[in-house]
Amino acid sequence: MSFERGELLIGASVKARAHVNIALIKYWGKAPARDATEANLPAVPSLSLSLDALYTDTTVVFAPDAPNDFGSLNGQPMDAATLARCRPVLDRVRELSDVASRFEIISENHVPTAAGLASSASSMAALAAAAATLTGLTDPSGKALSALARLGSGSACRSVFGGWVSWAGHHAQPVAPRDHWDLSLVVAVVSSKPKALSSREAMQRTARTSPFYAGWVQSAPALFEEGLAALKRRDLALLCDVMETSTYRMHACAMGARPPVLYWQSPSLAAIEVVKELRSEGRDMGWTMDAGPNVKVLCRSADAEDVREALLRVPGVGEALITKPGPGVRVSVKGGA
Ligand code: PMV
Repeated sequence: MSFERGELLIGASVKARAHVNIALIKYWGKAPARDATEANLPAVPSLSLSLDALYTDTTVVFAPDAPNDFGSLNGQPMDAATLARCRPVLDRVRELSDVASRFEIISENHVPTAAGLASSASSMAALAAAAATLTGLTDPSGKALSALARLGSGSACRSVFGGWVSWAGHHAQPVAPRDHWDLSLVVAVVSSKPKALSSREAMQRTARTSPFYAGWVQSAPALFEEGLAALKRRDLALLCDVMETSTYRMHACAMGARPPVLYWQSPSLAAIEVVKELRSEGRDMGWTMDAGPNVKVLCRSADAEDVREALLRVPGVGEALITKPGPGVRVSVKGGA
């Protein structure tokens, strides 16, 4: 798992598109790191789905005269916190390619503004792919690229690949293609406000103070294996059962932290009730939640419109988006020698 080194694309601009992914089996908690290349190694294995409708486009060019990396996000200059998140990825690219130059980054999130979905996974995967290509780093397997994206945000390593993706250790890997199964993920938007507490901080606090953290880490691998088996044999009832169990356990261990980490809001619970009602009609589906109050419902594509309409009737749910399995990261090069 390493990059091959090629020519620098001097004078070129490289654009990468990476899609948001949502974990069915959750990553929550980090393994100890010995150095910067081991940042964001997961304490537990996870399983995710990349989504077609939500993605980030990031263009990277060399900025040899600039004193620091700089850029724009959705047309506004990048703030210091955003640049700080890009830094580990860009520093690693410089190290691997022996380049001293700073970079200019132009990033656009194609996640509807009201969607309230974290775009750190898609942004960091797109940044890693664009910067690696610009500096001549190639990796046909995607594994070295996935490990690079992980340095920006753990879950970003999964956005390098399309369809169904697993992650344990340094990099993620594809486990089933997009067309493996005709499922949809309906996202019920409860809040589009920025997170009250970042996943990074919340994970650290959980690991440090929650008495349930050890139980979470110890029980996660068996859930992961069960989820993977359900995915492979297309058993939606089982996959949803395992997804909800993983979600409950992740949030339970976060709620056990001190001060507690609670992402759920009243409309989140009402949306979960809607899922239970639809399921009682005999339709297999399940819900999951991440570091925020939005609820995501995994269902057969034939049921997606009914799920969306039912979620939109929940007071406090402002929007509901139907998404389908999406592709892996794609890169295009313009100009250059
Ligand atoms: O990689 P981060 O810091 O965005 O953390 C992601 C954590 C969850 O979204 C809650 C779970 C997951 O596996 O994506």
